[in-house]
Amino acid sequence: MESLLKEGRVFDPPAAFRAQANVGADLYDEAAKDRLAYWGRQAEQLDWFRKWDRVLEWNPPFAQWFVGGKLNACYNCVDRHAAGGRADKPAIIWEGEPGDSATLTYADLLREVTRFAAVLKQLGVNQGDRVAIYMPIIPQTVVAMLACARIGAAHSVVFAGFSPEALAFRINDSGAKVLITADGYWRRGQLLSTKQNANVAVESCPSIETVLVVQRAGNDVAEGWVDGRDRWYHEEALSATGDVPCAELDAEDPLYVLYTSGSTGKPKGALHTIGGYLTHVASTHRAVFDTKESDVFWCTADIAWTTAHSYVVYGPLANGTTIFLYEGAPETPHRGRWWELIAKYRINVLYTAPTAIRTFMKWGAVEPAEFDLTSLRLLGSVGEPINPEAWIWYQTHIGGGRCPIVDTWWQTETGGMMVAPLPGVTPTKPGSATRPLPGIDVAVVDEDGNPVTRGGGYLVVKSPWPGMLRTVWGDDQRYASTYFSKFGPETYFAGDGARLDEDGYLWFLGRVDDVVNVSGHRIGTTEVESALVGHPAVAEAAVIGREHEVKGQAITAFVVLREGNEPSAALEKELKAHVTREIGGLARPEEVRFAPELPKNRAGKILRRLLRDIAEGRELGDTTTLIDPTVVAVLQSHK
Ligand code: PRX
Repeated sequence: MESLLKEGRVFDPPAAFRAQANVGADLYDEAAKDRLAYWGRQAEQLDWFRKWDRVLEWNPPFAQWFVGGKLNACYNCVDRHAAGGRADKPAIIWEGEPGDSATLTYADLLREVTRFAAVLKQLGVNQGDRVAIYMPIIPQTVVAMLACARIGAAHSVVFAGFSPEALAFRINDSGAKVLITADGYWRRGQLLSTKQNANVAVESCPSIETVLVVQRAGNDVAEGWVDGRDRWYHEEALSATGDVPCAELDAEDPLYVLYTSGSTGKPKGALHTIGGYLTHVASTHRAVFDTKESDVFWCTADIAWTTAHSYVVYGPLANGTTIFLYEGAPETPHRGRWWELIAKYRINVLYTAPTAIRTFMKWGAVEPAEFDLTSLRLLGSVGEPINPEAWIWYQTHIGGGRCPIVDTWWQTETGGMMVAPLPGVTPTKPGSATRPLPGIDVAVVDEDGNPVTRGGGYLVVKSPWPGMLRTVWGDDQRYASTYFSKFGPETYFAGDGARLDEDGYLWFLGRVDDVVNVSGHRIGTTEVESALVGHPAVAEAAVIGREHEVKGQAITAFVVLREGNEPSAALEKELKAHVTREIGGLARPEEVRFAPELPKNRAGKILRRLLRDIAEGRELGDTTTLIDPTVVAVLQSHK
């Protein structure tokens, strides 16, 4: 896991930025002195109906934060701003792909969320229930999430690009009672129907009582509409009246379940609870993005991903920030669309992923130069290691050399950022997410759990933190075995390799398990393998991630066919389409290689390292452990 990268550049925070930054170097010291007191002070920035009795109760590997405290996430994200001087301040500014737009002030947001909560109540959704949300990037998606939070129902948001099968799995695993979806949405100039996929999914979801449909695109949804089960949101809203107050919830009550891929088995539902999570995301949003009252904040992630849960919805809105949402694709209708939006809405902070930056780099610096990007004052990156060239390009062509860059490392499971610079304090090095944030106890260890001071090792978190997942939904055992067994029940195993440099900076080296990171999205190799093996022509499949210039990693599938099937371009196409149908376009293999056999060791384990070498065209290492060493020669010749 040794990184070959020799990156020596260091950038101090620009003096002008440092002078106005929200937090100073003392934040590190303050947290180091007393971690729990530090988090307690962060929690005090929220409004509580009842203050907590204890900051932390730690029964490894199970944590409870702000024990005995009562609060409501919606109250903190909406009501307190609408009542406290931000009523007329924009909460959400949205632009659709075709160019339609909407602005909701905090007062509007309160009205919309209350109405949505009343509809959910009318449909029989109660505190403790789960609600699935399968929606495009429109303001009503945020409204629906906050409405769930208001009444104490946990939401589970599913990416609109996921297949009906992937949606059905998540609904069934979480036991959701209501599915909220939209008629359709715009993507790359195409009208896509969310409702059609929802129809297919709910056929195998016995827990779903109602499919609530929000009107977005106005497309015809008559086909497959089931009266009684399917209801238009705008029609329900006519009869759902009356005030729905924020439920007084326990700090440890569920806020949401968000599914993520791991190295084995089906996706896991990461459970996040209210008090600790909200404390973590609000405080990191304030410190790392140097949030100012006048900021317009744009996090480009789809609302269905963890990045947007924490830094589109809960973090920024808890801080009363104006968020910007864009429905569509960056190249529609032209490659300058993002830059045009930044200029049009005077966006101040941009948070995006390295894969997007690499795409823009490929397109060149001409488009961004055509737009006025001087409103930007800070740039963020998340989702995968950012290549130093991409970092420099981002800083130069988007940030005009004046914006600090915050590379932020975290995961669906961590809830919020864990490793990132404080932009007015921490010198940055292109490609490194720098240091653990105040109050976060991270280390790099070897196979035996001993600290590694030079070279690479495993990234672990040695003490609980407020935003951590509380369990895997419905499966405490899986929670313990996935995250808290490799190094014992007190140490969180993140699944990432990392290297510490001489300044104590962290350099992330990618996953150490069988998770592929495609364009910043986690895809479990077993899921793709299971999908492939589910095809009648396939006997066996092994899936690996290989390096890819834009996506970071791309999926290569090695496939052994059943008797009677022959490799062909048509079958390759069919298998790619099959994976798209089963999981979604994100998991579609870039390449399918047919193989007469897979390279296995004598224990029958597939040697993925060799497959990676083959896919990336490298010299092969030791092949003597193989049952049949001639297999690799055949695979190499099968281009
Ligand atoms: O491998 C790390 C990578 O993304 C994984 C988490 O994926 P997910 O749960 O989908 O959340 C992504 C957005 C928070 C991590 O295990 N990763 C995320 N951010 C970085 C990163 N790798 C390097 N540098 C980052 N800044």
